[in-house]
Order: sequence, then structure tokens, then C-alpha cells
Amino acid sequence: EHQKVIDDINDQFQLPNESLISITKAFLDEYSKGLSAYGHPMAMIPTFVTGTPDGTEKGTFLALDLGGTNMRVCEVNLRGDKTFTIRQQKYRVSDALKTGEARALFDYLADSVDAFLSAEAQHADASESQPKFVPLGLTFSFPVEQTALDSGKILTWTKGFAATNAIGNDVVRLLQDAFDRKHLHVKCVALVNDTVGALLSRAYASGGCTLGAIFGTGTNGAFMDDVSKITKLGPNHPAISRGGQMVVNTEWGAFNNSRTHLPSTPFDKTMDRQSINPGFQAFEKFISGMYLGEIVRHILLALIDSAPQPILFNGASTTSLNLQWGIDTSVMSDVEDAWGAGSTDGDPVLETIVPNLEKLESLKGDKVHEKLEKVRKIVVEKLGFKDEQVSVKDAAIVRWACSLVARRAALLSGIAVAATLIQTEHAVLQEGSTTAKPKKHTDRAIIGVDGSLIEFYPNYERTLRESLRALVGEEIEKKVDIGLAKDGSGAGAALCALQAIKNTTQ
Ligand code: BG6
Ligand code: GLC
Repeated sequence: EHQKVIDDINDQFQLPNESLISITKAFLDEYSKGLSAYGHPMAMIPTFVTGTPDGTEKGTFLALDLGGTNMRVCEVNLRGDKTFTIRQQKYRVSDALKTGEARALFDYLADSVDAFLSAEAQHADASESQPKFVPLGLTFSFPVEQTALDSGKILTWTKGFAATNAIGNDVVRLLQDAFDRKHLHVKCVALVNDTVGALLSRAYASGGCTLGAIFGTGTNGAFMDDVSKITKLGPNHPAISRGGQMVVNTEWGAFNNSRTHLPSTPFDKTMDRQSINPGFQAFEKFISGMYLGEIVRHILLALIDSAPQPILFNGASTTSLNLQWGIDTSVMSDVEDAWGAGSTDGDPVLETIVPNLEKLESLKGDKVHEKLEKVRKIVVEKLGFKDEQVSVKDAAIVRWACSLVARRAALLSGIAVAATLIQTEHAVLQEGSTTAKPKKHTDRAIIGVDGSLIEFYPNYERTLRESLRALVGEEIEKKVDIGLAKDGSGAGAALCALQAIKNTTQ
């Protein structure tokens, strides 16, 4: 009976190749809708970034980064030799600031920049002449309808933010007003999404980049494409007349909000219903760090509460398990690390994802037991149980639930990458007996990535590549060079600030 419940949940989370293919088609369809008209959830935002850096760019800039795990203020020094140095201070943004008055949030940002500059001034050489204003690039990791490099209206909040009196306003203006209220000599000259930052900084380091993608608290991607494909700009738009390429911020987190293609389970639906933005950011809710722990929590609760007998923890629960958002995605990562994800030694039955409950019952102090014992300790500690409340069988089930949810996330992430390679003509969707070759022949397709999932979650990239391979074929998948654009947002904001200053002095 218990095995059936586990198997049933397991089945709901599977993504066979046919599903991967049909979701990719729907994804490409939303790409073209968003490029041809305004107002689509997958907003396909023109960024007005029309070139990528080549590594020779030089200069020192301030950068402010809002929307990831931390808010940061950075001083970025582009050294002109494909490298940069960064000095940064991280700050936490409280829930009260995230959901209160926008003015309070932007005042807090300005205060943080002020504090950073004051601390820096103590190191600075007093004889250095101070510029009239310090140029700052803002990385704002939310959907913004950009109208120029330095202006754009906030379309909506995502990732747990809901500050009032922000939507519809120009985010650069909101920030600049806060600087001005505090008489700071700082000027916000450029605005970038974190995905654009990742793309630009990877291009700066590697001489080119096709896609910048974030797999962190949220997920999103930005790619470089022919500006002629952004037909919603209208035939008379100067950017269309100029031609060339432009970076598009896809806002792919909003793919398929109707959930007609995404494989929603009851656990996903419960999580969505209880979230701050039900019905929105559907794709993001299957993939990103803000949500995965919550999906796992709902699976575990179903097994704790199962009738007629509990399957997990003898029916016991803890504060973390009872509380919405009580399980952080980093807990999942810790559980998988403790298991030693990726290692090939161990019991083949247990290496498969579905726990074989009968086999688990009969486990006695062998090597597999050792692995599970490590997981058990993490479960006790992170979920707040007493040692005697958690058996190795419970530990195995928790580990299974974590990998089930994370694996689905990574496979879906591969869809977004594949669709972008297809959109930019670096790949062709592999279906049936496809033999078509992509139009653009490159030795490698460069992708800059950032975010806590891709950086820290065991096997995330490996699983992402698995679906990429199924969708674009092994030959292309091998050419895809996925590299961490560490501190990419800071460097990207600096590169944009540099471009903005060049534009005004030209
Ligand atoms: C950081 C960037 O490195 O990664 C942020 O500075 C970005 O701009 C973030 O949003 C994404 O990762 P996470 O996991 O912090 O959301
Ligand atoms: C959310 C935001 C998007 C951002 C992404 C990653 O999806 O809407 O702008 O790029 O998170 O941080």
C-alpha cells in the first residue's frame, strides 16, 4: 500500500521525452508571441543593449543589485583584460520592506549605498579629486518594460516582493529620487536585469555569449538576437532601422501561467494557491529556489498525514514542516549532499530514485546504511526532529522527495536553454527522424549562468544537460559551454553604466 502511494507521487513528477518536446514547442510559441506584441506574461523585453563587450572595457563603477538572495552594493573595477575586481557589501531586505511602501524600500537602498560609500571613503586617498557624481548601474531582477538603457516601468513584482506604489513607475526615477532626497552624489545611469548582467559579464570574460540565465531564487534568461525579430517595436522604431542585434529579457518565469503544458501536481497547486501571486510565474514555481523547498514540504506532509497509517516520521511533524516556506531549498541541497549525490558506489536499488520500501525495511548496518545515516542526521537537524523520531527509512524517503522535485526542475530548465538555442538558430528541435542542421554553425554556444541552484545544487547542471541533449541532440549539447558568471550582475551593471556614459558623451 505504502509503496503504491510513493510510486504514484513518483509518476506524477516524471517528464518523458515526449513531454519535454511538447513543452519546448509551447515555449517557442510564447517566445514568438512575446516578440510580436506587448502585454504577454512572457514579456520578451527589449533591453536596448545592442552589443556585447569584448573584454577591453575599463573603468570603475558602483553597482546596486536587488532581487536575489541578498541585496548588494558593489564597486566594480573593469580592468580591460577580460577580468574585473569587485568590492561588495551584502544587505538583507526584510519582508516588511519587500511588501511595504516602495518609498521605504528605495530609501533603504539609498541608505545602503550611502553606508557603502562612507565606508569606502575611509580607505580612499583624500587627495583624489571627487567626481561631480558617481555613476551607478542598477541590477533590478524583476520584470521592467525598458524604454531606454536608463529607464523602464516596473511591470510586476515576483519572488515574494509586493511593495506598494511601485508598479507602473520608472524604477530608475524611484531610485534617483531616493538618492536625491538624501543628497547623495550618485547618479543611476543604467538599468539591467540580472540575466542581462550574466550575459554581459560572460561576454566580457569569454568574448561572446548567447544566453545569460539565472537559476536561483527565481529563474529567467536573456539572449542576444537580431533586432528585426522584435517586431513589436514597430517598423519605424529607430532600433529596427539601425538593425543589428539586441539583448531580449525573456521573463521566462511566466511561461505557461495557464499550466496547460506544465505537469502540475496537487503539491504544485497547493503551493501556488498559497503563494503571494497565485496564477503567475508558473514556470518559475516549478524551477526556482524560492519554491522547491515548499513543494517538498507538501509532499512530506502528505506522507506524514497519509491514512490509514502514516508513511513518514510515524505521523510526527515539526515547526519547520508545519510552517509555510518552512523548508528552504538549501535543506534539499544539504540532504542530497549528505547522500553523496552523483557517486556511483552503493546499492543499485537505493541509487534509483524510488525508495524500495521493502528493501529499506531490511537494511542493517552496511555501507548503504552509512550513507543513509548521514542523510538521517541532516534530516533530524534541519527539520528539527529529535534523533529517535527519524528512521533511516524516513531519511531515504526525504532524499527521494528532494531529488524528485529537483530533477524535474533541472529537466525543465533544460527546456528553456534548448528553446533559446533553437530561437537563436544555434540548434534544431530533435523530433522523430530530424536531420535538419542549425543555421548558425559555431564551435561553441556560450551560456553565462548564475544563481544558487545552478551553483550549489548537486547535479543540477548534469540533469539540465540531460534534457538539453534529448531536445537538441548530443552533437549540439556538447558544444554548449555553460559557465558561472560569478558576480555577473555587478559586472554587467558596470558594463552597462560604461555604455550609458559613452552614449551621452558621444
Ligand atoms: C547573484 C546576482 O549572484 O545571483 C543577483 O548578484 C542574482 O543579481 C542572483 O539575482 C541569483 O541568485 P540567487 O540564488 O541569489 O537568487
Ligand atoms: C524573476 C524576475 C526576473 C529575474 C529572475 C531571476 O523571474 O521576474 O526578472 O531575472 O527572477 O532573478
